[in-house]
Amino acid sequence: MSSAQGSSARGSSAHPAAPGPYRVVDPHPDIAEALGSLWVAVTEAGGAVDFVPGDPEDDIRALADSTIAEVRAGRAVMLALGDGADLAGTVFLVLGSGIAAHRADVGRLMVRPDLQGRGWGTVLLDAAVAQGTALGLEQLTLGCRGGTPLPAFYAARGWEQYGVLSQGVRLSADDARDVHLLRRRLT
Ligand SMILES: CC(C)(COP(=O)(O)OP(=O)(O)OC[C@H]1O[C@@H](n2cnc3c(N)ncnc32)[C@H](O)[C@@H]1OP(=O)(O)O)[C@@H](O)C(=O)NCCC(=O)NCCS
Repeated sequence: MSSAQGSSARGSSAHPAAPGPYRVVDPHPDIAEALGSLWVAVTEAGGAVDFVPGDPEDDIRALADSTIAEVRAGRAVMLALGDGADLAGTVFLVLGSGIAAHRADVGRLMVRPDLQGRGWGTVLLDAAVAQGTALGLEQLTLGCRGGTPLPAFYAARGWEQYGVLSQGVRLSADDARDVHLLRRRLT
């Protein structure tokens, strides 16, 4: 694994077999494929990360490629769980710039379906907060899909809702969902 290991933010005994979370400083060429595989599995299991079940795998893998390109370009920070070639979970911080350089948007929080519900999502989210603090950021934001357990998941972990984008995502012709906008102050 070529990914640099940052400080472990693991705070629970969720799953002893998955190393991390660690910051992926220098993404290995294979990590985009690993991210794509994780993202496809999470999507097919009903996860709420940019896609819906049945979306073309190529579309998901293309977004995984461009997500890793953002990490390489220094515009995003990737935190990972598991082996770099076989990711168990991820979360990203998309860094603001200019007058928004004091904040980042957290996204693509994903845990492999067979590992969900064991505390790893909480560990990854805590690691994102710790990373934001370490980077000197003042606040983090995120958006999550309504009609899912996600708004309550984040609220229970200290995130405050500052708005709702009504019908912000359309999952199908007759299923538009609100996007819940949340933030976490770091200072
Ligand atoms: C959301 C997610 C990252 C949480 O990770 P996790 O490891 O399952 O979560 P934890 O075990 O730390 O915590 C369980 C909590 O997650 C909530 N949860 C949300 N979606 C869940 C899911 N698909 N499976 C299990 N728990 C889920 C549970 O309600 C529970 O909440 P509570 O503890 O406040 O009662 C994970 O379920 C996942 O990858 N989901 C699919 C991708 C997704 O939708 N990501 C959100 C992007 S905004």
